[in-house]
Amino acid sequence: MEHIKTHIADGVLHIVLNRPDKKNALTRSMYQMMADAIVDANDNNAIRVIRFSGEGDCFTAGNDISDFANREEGQHVPETAAFMRALTDCKRPVVAQVHGLAVGIGTTLLLHCDFVYAEPNAKFVLPFINLGLVPEYASSYLLPKIAGHIKASAWLMLGEPITSQEAHDFGMLTAIVSSDTLAATVDEVCAKLTAKPAFALLHTKALLKSENEKIHQVMNEEFDIFLDAMNSTAAQEAFDAFLNKRQINPEKFK
Ligand code: COA
Repeated sequence: MEHIKTHIADGVLHIVLNRPDKKNALTRSMYQMMADAIVDANDNNAIRVIRFSGEGDCFTAGNDISDFANREEGQHVPETAAFMRALTDCKRPVVAQVHGLAVGIGTTLLLHCDFVYAEPNAKFVLPFINLGLVPEYASSYLLPKIAGHIKASAWLMLGEPITSQEAHDFGMLTAIVSSDTLAATVDEVCAKLTAKPAFALLHTKALLKSENEKIHQVMNEEFDIFLDAMNSTAAQEAFDAFLNKRQINPEKFK
């Protein structure tokens, strides 16, 4: 089974996370497939819009924790970086449809989309602090910009789930849409976007993304700290506890 399904229809590239038995946790190969699809879309004039969604009962549980635990020491996961860089630099408008949970990078990636629609019961989780990790992929820059320092601090330092309502109130979502009409609403928005004049659409997105250089700079700064954090006792304990389905030993968080 392909864990990332893609198809093009009516000018829209659909990227569907399709690993429902693992809550769409993202593996290295899934990141690479998405990175390649986005890079190809930049040069394919048949694609005007990119649309993200997930199969099963949630959008994604974030990075596959066994990939985190098994990565080579001192190495960031290159496929993840390739995907997030491709998303940051993507020329086409990106629309995301979120249901259930969006954990970790599942929420971080939404900060790089242009439209985000979520069902009322969706939950956004930035659990990095609880895993001994730090914010990634410019979320330490984008979240305060979007929601303000005070709210971003609560989200990133407490790591508690964020409701759709709160995410919407603080500018992370375009709209909250009932579960029954979520997919149809996202389809409608994609159709509206594909009908816009191509040149104007591309350049409007480019103008809105004029801060990309800064975003890449922050990503690089975060990488170094993230790598140190991944090697910490706290992170190793959090990964091992999750993979072995046991409680975290708080002594290892000191
Ligand atoms: N990495 C690897 N596997 C994951 C995963 C992840 N991020 N999230 C879920 N899975 C796997 C589980 O190990 C389980 O596999 P199994 O059936 O072989 O045991 C399967 O997906 C179902 O998950 P489960 O935990 O049983 O479902 P749940 O409904 O009780 O809980 C979550 C769902 C998302 C709340 C929970 O799985 C979770 O906390 N996942 C980790 C989220 C996370 O910390 N992500 C990393 C962010 S940096």
